[in-house]
Amino acid sequence: MTHYRLALLGFGNVGQALARLLLEKQDELRSRYDITFTVTGIATGRHGAALNPSGIDLGRALELVRSDHSLSSLSDSVVNDMLDFIAASRADVLFETIPVNYITGQPALDYLRAALKSGMHAITANKGPLVHAYRELTELARIKERKFYFESAVMDGAPIFSLFRQTLPVAKLRAFCGVLNSTTNLILTRMETGEDFSRAVAYAQSIGIAETDPSGDIDGWDAAVKVAALVTVLMGIPLKPIEVDRQGIRSITSAEIESARCEGKRWKLICSARREMEGVFARVAPEMVGSDSLFYGVNGTSSIVQFETDVLSSFSIIETDPGPRTTAYGLLADFVNAVTQ
Ligand SMILES: NC(=O)c1ccc[n+]([C@@H]2O[C@H](COP(=O)([O-])OP(=O)(O)OC[C@H]3O[C@@H](n4cnc5c(N)ncnc54)[C@H](OP(=O)(O)O)[C@@H]3O)[C@@H](O)[C@H]2O)c1
Repeated sequence: MTHYRLALLGFGNVGQALARLLLEKQDELRSRYDITFTVTGIATGRHGAALNPSGIDLGRALELVRSDHSLSSLSDSVVNDMLDFIAASRADVLFETIPVNYITGQPALDYLRAALKSGMHAITANKGPLVHAYRELTELARIKERKFYFESAVMDGAPIFSLFRQTLPVAKLRAFCGVLNSTTNLILTRMETGEDFSRAVAYAQSIGIAETDPSGDIDGWDAAVKVAALVTVLMGIPLKPIEVDRQGIRSITSAEIESARCEGKRWKLICSARREMEGVFARVAPEMVGSDSLFYGVNGTSSIVQFETDVLSSFSIIETDPGPRTTAYGLLADFVNAVTQ
């Protein structure tokens, strides 16, 4: 039996879902993988932080945050900043789930770097540090003989990065194409039922899918970051979100949605990338797809990616109605893979 100390940096939708999943799966982790764990640290932005080397009561932490209370009552010491928190947690594994920063990847990037330097496995659901420092963090993990894993950064818990890492040796990714942003896909699906753009955005916000400022999704930034992440990791070509040819869905009118419907088609925000002689062409743009396309039936918050490799001509992954629990599963899978391989 191997015991691991875990630290959760970020305890919002995903961090809390991870805590629930750890509780739900703890017996299976013990019986199937000989893994036991204690959570020695949980940190948030506005809900305080808790450190306890003997283990934090996860049920109590969930109750406190649900009732908008600080976690500090669960702490046996005072935490001044997040770098101190990481060091003081003395964790074996850090799960980082703080909000994404598309422009710099910070401060999550500094947190993941600090965790790896202290000899922890670093696991994140955050696209920011992935696109801004994939090579650096991967190299640091290699030097420290630890893992930097990020399955949940694209398509939540669906296996994409681990699929290529573990099951597709020597396959060369030539191109991919997909619908990778849930918020815009939901907005377009709602508009097909007659809702106008602003009401569809308001609906996406009301169910917690779109943020208060939804421009990161609507203007294609979230999709561009995901494209950059897939190109960087799976094609081995470092690409920044700003280098993706990007157009969002803001200009699509109800009349265009209706006219597509009359033709038996649907608008989708399509993410794509293809290797070229030198480098890659990567794009995010709305396109009409017909019922002969796999993308036609991927509606609401569901997503899809279709890969083209030199050995498997084309294969797809579809994820239906993802949510924080699916994202949390990607983190849990990364944990098990990090400590068992
Ligand atoms: N939601 C999903 O299903 C999903 C899917 C794929 C990827 N992701 C990624 O997962 C990450 C988390 O998403 P989420 O939906 O859980 O976000 P969230 O609900 O907004 O939670 C973010 C958490 O991070 C804390 N936080 C904010 N700034 C911090 C800082 N500087 N230092 C330490 N803690 C900080 C927040 O604390 P307070 O609440 O106290 O401010 C909160 O606990 C994001 O990077 C997101 O892009 C999410």
